Amino acid sequence: MTTLLVTGGAGFIGTNFIRHMLKTRPDWRIVNLDVLTYAGNAANLDDMARQMPERYCFVRGDINDSHRVMDLLRNERPWAVVHFAAESHVDRSILGPLAFVETNVTGTARLLIACRQVWEESGRPADFRFVHVSTDEVYGSLGPEGYFTETTAYDPSSPYSASKAASDHLVRAWHCTYGFPAMVTNCSNNYGPYQFPEKLIPLMILNILEEKPLPVYGDGANVRDWLYVVDHCEALATVLEKGAPGQTYNIGGGAERRNIDVVQQLCSLLDDRLDRRGDRRSQRLIRFVTDRPGHDRRYAIDAAKIQHELGWRPRFRFEEALADTVDWYLANGPWVDFVRSGDYRRWIETNYGPDGTRAAQTVKEHPTT
Ligand code: NAD
Ligand code: TYD
Repeated sequence: MTTLLVTGGAGFIGTNFIRHMLKTRPDWRIVNLDVLTYAGNAANLDDMARQMPERYCFVRGDINDSHRVMDLLRNERPWAVVHFAAESHVDRSILGPLAFVETNVTGTARLLIACRQVWEESGRPADFRFVHVSTDEVYGSLGPEGYFTETTAYDPSSPYSASKAASDHLVRAWHCTYGFPAMVTNCSNNYGPYQFPEKLIPLMILNILEEKPLPVYGDGANVRDWLYVVDHCEALATVLEKGAPGQTYNIGGGAERRNIDVVQQLCSLLDDRLDRRGDRRSQRLIRFVTDRPGHDRRYAIDAAKIQHELGWRPRFRFEEALADTVDWYLANGPWVDFVRSGDYRRWIETNYGPDGTRAAQTVKEHPTT
């Protein structure tokens, strides 16, 4: 059996990736190393742990704990590492940047040191792979035209994207300097099941359900290129199996939407399902609120390289996958209650203020790019 080590597999994308790989690669075994921050939920994979204990194993641990990571690598001897573990939310990075440096920069550096050390000890196996999962936000903000390619210069705007940019540079340096067989992927905004409800789509779904204000930052015309998480998982599997060490691959959904249009679409999807159609009840919850400082205007990925070189392209249409995502949140109330039972309410109050509209935000506004 082939063993894969996943970091951060109790978070949104990691959970979906592990579920996807266990389903589609019957001879693979997955070890999930996750420290379980507020965003990690080991219970996401409890059914897998119960159904296939020989193929899935959860280890609670920190990527910054080099001894722990090296022991794990020596005992498990994975053929590849897929690195998701990170602090991932831009708004949190604005209010508390240091955790982003500690996890995304120092954590990635320590993980690279540990992985390289064990790779060297094992005689530098030629088929070993390290996939670093990163973001298109490292490229900064686009105007109305153009796309991010793998050669676009890095120009991060937020503490989050700056920390991910630093981690990408470290991964590339490990390949250039030590010949370590690492690859970097930069993807656009994901959506789908198991996403923590601090990000736009799940936050809006739950606020609509509870008829709370829908806080749209700025003028709502910022554009994101939405990627269904299952498409992303298939792209990562493709990079893992067919990608070339030292390469970078951009992964995008080809579904550019303005935030306000996504929110309105969610309103109408939920109004249909909740029988609230008549009076546009949900639309009336929309509030344009204080903009995010340094808010990137537009992201859009040119995914030609992964399409032409590795044969991957997204399969899911945005409208259908968004409707499936809404249905998943409606069907998984206990999951929602569980992930919101920690410090979630405190975060909502800190970021949006007591009335949910950011009136209490004191961070000085920054011109949009
Ligand atoms: P997430 O916040 O949902 O999950 C992150 C996971 O990492 C959590 O389970 C957390 O417990 C774990 N973690 C954090 N610090 C750790 C540490 N020190 N050691 C071990 N585990 C730790 O994030 P996500 O949305 O699933 O994103 C996964 C990766 O994909 C991140 O690297 C992120 O930068 C990248 N990414 C995400 C998106 C997106 O739209 N969500 C887009 C582009 C790139
Ligand atoms: P988010 O899901 O935080 O992802 P990212 O910042 O990584 O792109 O936000 C997606 C877009 O939605 C972004 O332009 C900010 C905007 N947004 C709001 O308008 N209101 C909100 O409450 C949140 C969380 C995001």
